[in-house]
Amino acid sequence: MSHSYNFDQIIERRGTQSSKWDNVGARVGNPDALPMWVADTDFTCPEPIVKAVQERAAHPIYGYPYVVPEFYTVTADWVKRRYGWEIRPEWAIYTLGVVPVINTAIQAFTDPGDEVVILPPVYHPFAHAIRDNDRVVSGAALIYEDGRFDVDFEDLEKRLASPKAKLLIFCSPHNPSGRVWNEEELRKVAEMALKHNVLVVCDEIHADVMLFGHKHIPMASLDERFAQNTITCYAPSKTFNIAGLRGSGIIIPNESVRKAMQKRFTANRAIQQNVFALPAYLAAYTECDDYIDQLIPYLEGNVEFIDSFLRENMPKIKLMKPDATFLAWLDCSELGMDADELADFFINKAKVAVNRGDSFGKEGAIFERINFGCPRSTLEEGLKRLKAEYDKLG
Ligand SMILES: Cc1ncc(COP(=O)(O)O)c(C=O)c1O
Repeated sequence: MSHSYNFDQIIERRGTQSSKWDNVGARVGNPDALPMWVADTDFTCPEPIVKAVQERAAHPIYGYPYVVPEFYTVTADWVKRRYGWEIRPEWAIYTLGVVPVINTAIQAFTDPGDEVVILPPVYHPFAHAIRDNDRVVSGAALIYEDGRFDVDFEDLEKRLASPKAKLLIFCSPHNPSGRVWNEEELRKVAEMALKHNVLVVCDEIHADVMLFGHKHIPMASLDERFAQNTITCYAPSKTFNIAGLRGSGIIIPNESVRKAMQKRFTANRAIQQNVFALPAYLAAYTECDDYIDQLIPYLEGNVEFIDSFLRENMPKIKLMKPDATFLAWLDCSELGMDADELADFFINKAKVAVNRGDSFGKEGAIFERINFGCPRSTLEEGLKRLKAEYDKLG
């Protein structure tokens, strides 16, 4: 059954223990700032998910669940249907979120003092996971040219070649910029990692929200050798707005890598899932394709809205047009502010809660990340608040 979604609908989220809305004062520093930071959307999640959770909630016993066999087949069907990658169901592992997977992989495949390669600016928990586990961040900074990011393959190769480099954490599509890596780029990165015997964690959590006709290519699908060297992470959480349920699926074709991950999950007791998460996961991956079909054009409209609003009203702030995701990376270099001044301008003066660009790595200092996964009217309100302050700059 198909459903019709109204993404213009404003849904009050305050008072729901929402990190984005209720914790904005404590975390961002200004309780009056409009929340456009944490990467969840302000859209209702799909009806089949709500129904699955409500049905489970209606049963009054919330004892220990187990990973039902459908998890494996549903995950394999999804990966094939949506990304064209044929996997064996037993390659999948049910996990409690992608960030815990990244931490677990660091623990399983590296030792304290080893280097873990990332390509900053990038989703900040990558660097936190590395440092929290006493490993060393090796950052092959992306090249920023002509308003877009490219991989610095020379620097990446140098870092992968280091005898201490054991793991590469790659974000595809890229958060914060929304860049979709093309087949040639993915092949190059994967070949380099193979050549230098570095295992890859490919975080493809944003794979479903492909804008403007872009297509997601799972890195591991390109070559059996890459598949054997890659842990691929997916989740319905971003796409369907269910991050609070904690449920994700990772794909590990290599049996010894899979066993090493399973061993570490077990050692950490990170194997017992939430009773509502799996019903939601199964509903998401079987009954909600129509939600994505409607979400994508809405988000494309939001991108166009930001782009034209900035061009008309704030030409010194430039949108790096995202190929994917509901996150936009704003180049604010022409404002001539340092990272603290920029954050103050957005968060305290304009009262728009964004993610500071430098939280994604020092390379992000001239940027801010804005979450446009919201009704157009909310987006307009945020942009108008910005314009009011921008106009004062003279
Ligand atoms: C690239 C990336 N990976 C992982 C996550 C979060 O993963 P989880 O909530 O499943 O731990 C996010 C959330 O924004 C993300 O952007």
